[in-house]
Amino acid sequence: MSNWKVFNKTGETRVLVTKMLPGVEWLNILIDANYKIEVNLSNEVTTKPEIIEKIGTNCRAIIGQLTENWDEELFQIFSSAGGVVYSNYAVGYNNVNVKAATKSEIAIGNTPGVLTEATSEMAVALTMACARRIVEADSFMRKGYFKGWLPNLFLGKRLYRGTVGIIGAGRIGFSYALTMVQAFQMNLIYFSNRENLILEDTIDDYNRFLQKTNSNSVFVKRAMTIEELLQESDVISLHVPLNEDTHHLIDKNCFSKLKKDAILINTSRGPIIDEKSLTKHCKNNPKFMAGLDVFENEPFMYKGLVDLDNVVVAPHIASATKWTREGMAKLAALNIKGVLENYEFSKSNHISSFLSQNPPKAIPNIVNSEVLNSK
Ligand code: GLV
Ligand code: GLV
Repeated sequence: MSNWKVFNKTGETRVLVTKMLPGVEWLNILIDANYKIEVNLSNEVTTKPEIIEKIGTNCRAIIGQLTENWDEELFQIFSSAGGVVYSNYAVGYNNVNVKAATKSEIAIGNTPGVLTEATSEMAVALTMACARRIVEADSFMRKGYFKGWLPNLFLGKRLYRGTVGIIGAGRIGFSYALTMVQAFQMNLIYFSNRENLILEDTIDDYNRFLQKTNSNSVFVKRAMTIEELLQESDVISLHVPLNEDTHHLIDKNCFSKLKKDAILINTSRGPIIDEKSLTKHCKNNPKFMAGLDVFENEPFMYKGLVDLDNVVVAPHIASATKWTREGMAKLAALNIKGVLENYEFSKSNHISSFLSQNPPKAIPNIVNSEVLNSK
């Protein structure tokens, strides 16, 4: 059941927010700008008919959710109602038809940067949970099965000096890789559509530190194929955005290349993995482990996946820390305000200035900036 609440009823510019967001700063930004803000307080996904009804004949801006499908029809309706900006409450925007939005001259915002570390920390948490079988062990304890220390109880996998492979070396992949290299002195293989010299230099710097402590160095290399990365890595973590090129990037063929006891982590988007093949692989390879925060058909899991001990699962919570989710809300609000007030684009890659008490008069992040440049 939907349940909309209106803030600043006398505001002239209507802004829709399809789900309540954490914190108060985002709301205060929009109220201070004297917009009329209508927020859906329900926890259920706001349906397309409901969004259309709410847009009505006059709506300038929307903050929407990754659980909504923002297609061509919605953008046409929004544009006809005077809409100029939509901000996704997420860094990923595979749920948004950006091409259609651009055609309707609607700017699309997202929330990069603020969730980089939270997401990479979750990927690390899933990696550790897999390597040391934390979830199985927790369940074993709770069931009262522990009858005393045993040499063979829950043998896991040592990460130290192993090899970690990242597929996608953007902000989140970079942050995860650096943590794994520095925490466990792992070698690093990355797959990315371009050479990442900053990443390679950073690992070189770390090697200089290792040298000073008389430790062996680690290596970093770019894999030319995904197969190469899969064959050589002990841990593989996915950090690519979902699009036509990355849909089922990890398919049946990929699973056949993995080490028998590999760990596969996904905190990006579910459909990057063919979940049916993953389920089969998990069944046939009990030493393999998968740590999943995202699923192909959320909120569902592929049939049989739930019964397997060698998967650790979480309900798409990688960015779910209070600081991060409040920061995302603030960025989404500032994307809206920036476009409505005709601010310039942010020149800095550092999102942190927007999180301060007095954010700059600039737009944090619009993915189809050509819409605004042509105005
Ligand atoms: C969450 O999944 C996001 O893309 O921010
Ligand atoms: C990751 O690629 C990010 O946008 O933070």
